[in-house]
Amino acid sequence: MCYTVRMPTNTPQLIVALDYPDAFHALEMAQQLVPASPWMKVGLELLMHAGPQVVADLRDLGLEVFLDGKFHDIPNTVAGAMHGAVTTGARMVNVHAGGGLRMMRAAREAADTAAMTNALPRPLVIAVTVLTSLSEKELAEEVGCARKAEAQVIALARLAQEAGLDGVVASVLEAAAIKDACGDDFTVITPGIRPAQADDDQRRVATPAAAVEAGADYLVVGRPITQAEHPLAACEAILAEIRGAAG
Ligand code: C5P
Repeated sequence: MCYTVRMPTNTPQLIVALDYPDAFHALEMAQQLVPASPWMKVGLELLMHAGPQVVADLRDLGLEVFLDGKFHDIPNTVAGAMHGAVTTGARMVNVHAGGGLRMMRAAREAADTAAMTNALPRPLVIAVTVLTSLSEKELAEEVGCARKAEAQVIALARLAQEAGLDGVVASVLEAAAIKDACGDDFTVITPGIRPAQADDDQRRVATPAAAVEAGADYLVVGRPITQAEHPLAACEAILAEIRGAAG
């Protein structure tokens, strides 16, 4: 695989994906990782089992939360969901760029309004471009996308920027091209990070160092930490690799 290398502007942050079917195990893992990582991600699995209260529980541990709700619906419904997401205290919330310009604008406007009404900081509003679990073949044959993955990611990143969003979720393979297209201030969040060769459902994967070198601002890592024998040690090893690559 070939990555474009960029000089990192800041040390990227690690976000640990708490993909658990209950709040107890998620909070137990978060507590173990508090000394190392300030950011946790609450995705659909945990949200559906534990409810939005889990975001407040993580905030009570002093953690920042990325609420990975991946909203994708009509603009009015997404705006309502975004309003609720802001009131949980999440500092980053995402929507699917595939919902289009009007939907993303509605998400951003709802985040502004909800933050102001509730005297909360506005969370970063992020767009998901192309899921890192999709291969080029699946994207073409199943999703029916005429563009190659990278071209589709760049087109959706530009659309998200036009809608006033703060950044995108994308694979490491596209991170440098997104920065070139949208500028250094446009946040890039990269999941699909694997410290070594791993065989699971992620397809377009890269190491933490490659993600940093490609210009990622936040690296999302789940199972390589949460399913490790020693999660805190695994987390610290990844952080060391991030810091090493960021110089
Ligand atoms: O366990 P793993 O490191 O594969 O976890 C990756 C996390 O990033 C999961 O919570 C997944 O939902 C999320 N994610 C992803 N690809 C995207 C967006 C989010 O894998 N494009």
